[in-house]
Amino acid sequence: MREQLSKIREEALVAVKAATALSEIEELRVKFLGKKGEVSSILKQLGGLSAEERPVIGQLANEVRADIDAAISDAKKRLEADALNQKLAAEKLDITMPGKSGKIGGLHPINTVLNDMIDIFQSMGFDVVDGPEVETDYYNFEALNVPADHPARDMQDTFYLSDNLLLRTQTSAAQIRTMKTRKPPIRIVCPGRVFRADEVDATHSPVFHQMEGLVVDKGVTMCDLLGVLEKFAHEIYGPETKVKFRPSFFPFTEPSVEVDVSCSECGGKGCRVCKGTGWIEILGAGMVHPNVLRACDIDPEVYSGFAFGIGLDRLTTTRYKISDIRLLFENDIRFLEQF
Ligand code: DAH
Repeated sequence: MREQLSKIREEALVAVKAATALSEIEELRVKFLGKKGEVSSILKQLGGLSAEERPVIGQLANEVRADIDAAISDAKKRLEADALNQKLAAEKLDITMPGKSGKIGGLHPINTVLNDMIDIFQSMGFDVVDGPEVETDYYNFEALNVPADHPARDMQDTFYLSDNLLLRTQTSAAQIRTMKTRKPPIRIVCPGRVFRADEVDATHSPVFHQMEGLVVDKGVTMCDLLGVLEKFAHEIYGPETKVKFRPSFFPFTEPSVEVDVSCSECGGKGCRVCKGTGWIEILGAGMVHPNVLRACDIDPEVYSGFAFGIGLDRLTTTRYKISDIRLLFENDIRFLEQF
């Protein structure tokens, strides 16, 4: 038995030392020290020994078990340390390597123009308000003096969602929402997306951007409108820019005008940008129609107001010399990166 025990010890120590994985160590532990392991099977035979031999062999067996146990925990520590070192080596960072710089986003050109416009109007005391893109017929048309079957509805091809709901064709709906909730003096702008069932081409898109403006107070005149729009044009295009009113028609204003600015590209001489005319149309405007004031419970005998609707897309394409409006909506990074 002595021999058997020292053989077991020798065999176990060699095997444990050679082990290269924690799972292997566990197998060896079961094989030598487990309940049915080799050392246990020796201990089970102690009963058959003489009274003198029993304690001697018993002690030896315990020593062998302790030796194997110690070897196993050494091997475990060794393998765990190896694993950690390997992991550390694999994850080693070279902190002297130059960094990779991330791409920095930028504002879409429409938003840059929008922010400039908001700054200009805020400096003149206008509040910025928001309105829903899905509107009712009432706010988009009816209250703006465009009753059902009015021929002016043909001016704006409308996406209807139901008999009563539509995608707003103009930010003018914000005029009504504002006058229903605020009382004069009113000075607001409302920027946003608008929608019309137009064919897509270089100058038309079914989605585009407008900014509505509305001023209502006692004694507001067309001169105030001209003054505000001149200030706006000078800030956007430069102080030498001229502003021109042309008579026009909108159902919600009387009188109505379309507003041109002298071409910032050629200074009014005529070029490709202004199609040789020297002028660029940037907005529609007028004095708020008494029917519109009345629809909002504002007495037209006491108050008057002006309103305007600026198209942002044309402003953006002329400012940045973008030849095709579709580029503003495609969100091609190669295009956007240029701004
Ligand atoms: N809503 C008009 C359009 O989309 C633009 C407009 C014209 C707005 C005159 C106004 C205005 O507020 O007074 O064509």
